Amino acid sequence: MAMNDEETVALTAGGHTVGKAHGNGDPANLGPAPEAADLHEQGFGWMNHKTRGVGRDTVTSGIEGTWTTHATRWDNGYFELLLNYEWELKKSPAGANQWEPIGLKDEHKPRDPEDPRKTARIIMTDADMAMKMDPAYRKISEKFHADPEYFAQAFARAWFKLTHRDLGPKSRYFGPEVPKQDLIWQDPVPAGNTTYNVMAVKAKINATGLSVAELVATAWDSARTYRDSDKRGGANGARIRLAPQKNWVGNEPSRLSKVLSLYQKISSETGASVADLIVLGGNLGIEKAAQAAGVVVDVPFAPGRGDASDAQTDVESFEYFEPLHDGFRNWLKQEYAVKPEEMLLDKAQLLGLTAKEMTVLVGGMRVLGTNHGGTQHGVFTQKQGQLTNDFFVNLTDMAYRFELAESNLYHVIERKTGQKKWTATRVDLVFGSNSVLRAYSEVYAQNDAQQKFINDFIAAWVKVMNADRFDLKICRS
Ligand code: HEM
Repeated sequence: MAMNDEETVALTAGGHTVGKAHGNGDPANLGPAPEAADLHEQGFGWMNHKTRGVGRDTVTSGIEGTWTTHATRWDNGYFELLLNYEWELKKSPAGANQWEPIGLKDEHKPRDPEDPRKTARIIMTDADMAMKMDPAYRKISEKFHADPEYFAQAFARAWFKLTHRDLGPKSRYFGPEVPKQDLIWQDPVPAGNTTYNVMAVKAKINATGLSVAELVATAWDSARTYRDSDKRGGANGARIRLAPQKNWVGNEPSRLSKVLSLYQKISSETGASVADLIVLGGNLGIEKAAQAAGVVVDVPFAPGRGDASDAQTDVESFEYFEPLHDGFRNWLKQEYAVKPEEMLLDKAQLLGLTAKEMTVLVGGMRVLGTNHGGTQHGVFTQKQGQLTNDFFVNLTDMAYRFELAESNLYHVIERKTGQKKWTATRVDLVFGSNSVLRAYSEVYAQNDAQQKFINDFIAAWVKVMNADRFDLKICRS
C-alpha cells in the first residue's frame, strides 16, 4: 500500500478509535468458513448456531474488547489509554492473546453495548502495542496524542489514500468531491502535447539509425511497468528516464541512456514528449520489422503523453516496480523458486493481457531480437529483426526435438542430423508444452497466418502501449 510510518500509525489508531474486537465466547461454537457454509448462509460463514452469536456473545477474531472508552466517538482515547497505561498480556474469553491495561480507572472503563450498567474490556492487539513500543511509531503516536487536530487531518489524508490509491491517476476520478491538489501517490503526469506533426517526428526517430531491437525494447520497458491491479506504472510520464527506473538492470541502463539522449534532443526540437517518442519509436520499430517481412502496416498511435518530473515521482514507492523478470524479453534477474513461465503469466495478467495476446507478443518479440542482453534463447529464426511467425513455425515443427541442457536452458535439436539449432528457456517452451498456449501457437504457425500474426501482434502491442492512457478510455457522457 506504500504507506509511510505516519500514515500507518494514523490509520491503525484512527481505525481502532471506533468499533470493537469480538471474542466473548467459545470459538468452537462457530460454523464453517463462508465458502464451506451451507447455501442458505449466503456467504456470511462463521455463523454461531449454539448461542445468540450477536451483541456481547459475538466471536470473530477471538479478541474481546474496545480500544477506547467511547467506541462510537471520534476522540483521542486511543492514544490516551495506549500511552498512559502499562499493559499486560491476557487471554480473552475465546482464548486469544490480547493486551489489557493495568489498573484501569473506573472512568476509563467502557460500557457493555447491551447493558450500560455493566463494564467491558479495553484491549490492544500486538499491532496496536507496536504504536507504543516501536521507537519510530512511538514518536508519531506522541505527536498525535499532543495534537488531536493534526491526528484527525493525518487520518483523513491517509484514509483517502487507502480508499483511492488503486483507482490510479486523478484523471480517473469524477464528481464534486475530487480534491483540487495533486497528491504524490497519484503519480501525477502533466498534460502532453497533441499538436506536433507525428509523421515528421517519426522521420526524425528513423534518422537516428536506432535498431529495431533498440526501438522496441525501450518502448516495451517503458510500458511494462503498468499494473492493472492498481492502475499504476506504464509509459505515460516517461518515468523510465528518472531514478529509480533509469538505473534498473532490467532496463539495460547503457542502451536506455543512448536511446533517451537521442529522444531528448528530438523532444526539444519538436515539442513531442519523451514519453510519446518512446512509444512512437517502438511503433516505428514494428513497422520497419513488418516491412522487412514484406507487410506494410501502420501501428496506431495516440499522442498526448506527458513527461513527469522527479518532484512528481514517489521514488520509494516506484522502487517496488523494479522488474525481477520479464518473459517477454526472456529475462530473469536471478533464479527464483517460482518457475519463469509462472512469472510470465503473472506479468501478463498485471498488464491485462489475455493468453492469446501474451502468446503473440512473446513470439513476435523473440524474432525482433528484443531479448534482454541480446541473448539468442527462443530466437527461432534466421531473419532476426523481421516480424515473422518463425517462432511459432519452428516451435511446433516436428523436425525438432528439445533437450534439457541446464536449469532453464534447453537445446533445440534437428531430429534428422542431431545438430543443435537453437537454445530456448522454459518461457519459450511453455508455448509448445501447455495445451492452451500450444493451440494459439499452432494457429500462428500456419502457412497462411502471417498477416493474422502481425495484426494480432500490433493489437496486443498497442494495448500495452496505451494501457495507462485513461484519457483515451474514459467516457463521461
Ligand atoms: C495494523 C494492522 C491492523 C490489525 C492487526 C488490525 C486488527 C484488528 C482486529 C483483530 C480487529 C477485531 C476484529 C473482530 O474481532 O471483530 C479489528 C477491528 C477493527 N479494525 Fe483493525 N487492524 C489493523 C488496522 C486497521 C486499520 C488500518 C483500520 C482502519 C483504518 C482498522 C479498523 C478497524 C475497525 C473499525 C475495527 C472494528 C470493527 C468492528 O467494530 O466490528 N484496523 N482490527
